[in-house]
Amino acid sequence: MTDSVQMIEILPSLLSADFARLGEHIGQVEAAGASMLHFDVMDGHFVPNLTMGTPVLQSIRKITRAHLDVHLMVTNPDAFAPIFIEAGADSVSVHQEVCPHLDRTLRLIQSEGAQAGVVLNPSTPVSTLDEVLEVVDFVLIMSVNPGFGGQKFLPNSLNKVRQLAERRERLGLAFKIEIDGGIGASNAADAVKAGAEWLVAGNSIFGAPNPGAAFLALRETAHSGLRQLA
Ligand code: DX5
Ligand code: ZN
Repeated sequence: MTDSVQMIEILPSLLSADFARLGEHIGQVEAAGASMLHFDVMDGHFVPNLTMGTPVLQSIRKITRAHLDVHLMVTNPDAFAPIFIEAGADSVSVHQEVCPHLDRTLRLIQSEGAQAGVVLNPSTPVSTLDEVLEVVDFVLIMSVNPGFGGQKFLPNSLNKVRQLAERRERLGLAFKIEIDGGIGASNAADAVKAGAEWLVAGNSIFGAPNPGAAFLALRETAHSGLRQLA
């Protein structure tokens, strides 16, 4: 049971932090125990928004030892993955929807020294990953349509997490399942019960008056889901 509890990670999404106080916000969640941080890269083409690039990641890399999880919402991830790994990413995820050579892209990320993940939009079926499940280090199920923080959670994403967890069990694989979008107190336990281990949370942590306290409360809620499984 203790081992299982330690497997759950809450990943504060820096997209919802105050960029003028980024270091301070990172310090608050790290002090509360966050060991992974989620970094959203948007290109204005794949999604209708622009966010952060490698200079920001490099600056963050200098002030934290946390695992930096880079979510590439860009049309050309093969070009960007290596430079984000060079800038300090520990894991990089790419969208299935823009990767015609997904197997090659995942192996490229691994060969550059990072964990490789693939992301599914809400409308993309889990079955599209059947041929790469043995390659991936993690799969990210989007629980909102990507592009913005603070959106409403889409409940069908839990069905997709369950489908993925069932495949992982049946195939004897060990990839992690990550979920991203609209995660908060009302659904974190359900996400864990469905089979997710990495829970990304932006607005529910950095939109709170005390991000460290919000991180701790969300982690406790996620662990309560795990206890319900036991
Ligand atoms: C949305 C991003 C998410 C976002 C989540 O496209 O991929 O990582 O920051 O933010 P919340 O938790 O506010 O939905
Ligand atoms: Zn994200």
